[in-house]
Amino acid sequence: PNADALTRAESLIRTVPDYPEPGVLFRDITPLLADAVALRACIDGLIAPFAGQFDVVAGIEARGFLIAGAVATVANVGLVPIRKAGKLPRPAASVSYALEYGTATIEAHDDIAQGTRVLLLDDVLATGGTLAAGHQVVAELGGVVVGTAVLMELAALGGRALVPDTHALFTV
Ligand code: PRP
Repeated sequence: PNADALTRAESLIRTVPDYPEPGVLFRDITPLLADAVALRACIDGLIAPFAGQFDVVAGIEARGFLIAGAVATVANVGLVPIRKAGKLPRPAASVSYALEYGTATIEAHDDIAQGTRVLLLDDVLATGGTLAAGHQVVAELGGVVVGTAVLMELAALGGRALVPDTHALFTV
């Protein structure tokens, strides 16, 4: 991956104070997505450690879909969306996990054959609950998670404890 373009990409992640609620610093990746060179560098950077090691990508709704779609196309593999509950007609795996307040559920169709090597993708690693649940979804379907990758890790939230081997392009 192009180091200058990755530096540029990181600078294009916009920090928005007090969104979605007071006291929260929101990391907005939309300026990065809108930049062709930065986007391509990120996609290449996410793939690089896992090149040739995965058969399919799984992306977590919604921002993970943006990453997974691009990675799938560049890496020439298929894509399995992991969706929020109630969006898929025939979910074969369904995993609930704790949020700060309440719980969330993510689901996927059984489009991962037994033993398929899966690269699990999302935009951000925060508390890690979402990616840990994503691991469980893939496992329930019979897939093997060979890697987890995100654009950005919010280190202060400690999510790496739940998904220790995650490849994060940027860490704040
Ligand atoms: C955000 C982000 C990750 C998740 C990370 O998704 O895109 O999926 O939170 O948080 P965690 O590590 O604490 O689980 P969000 O639920 O905001 O959904 P969105 O992508 O649909 O905006």
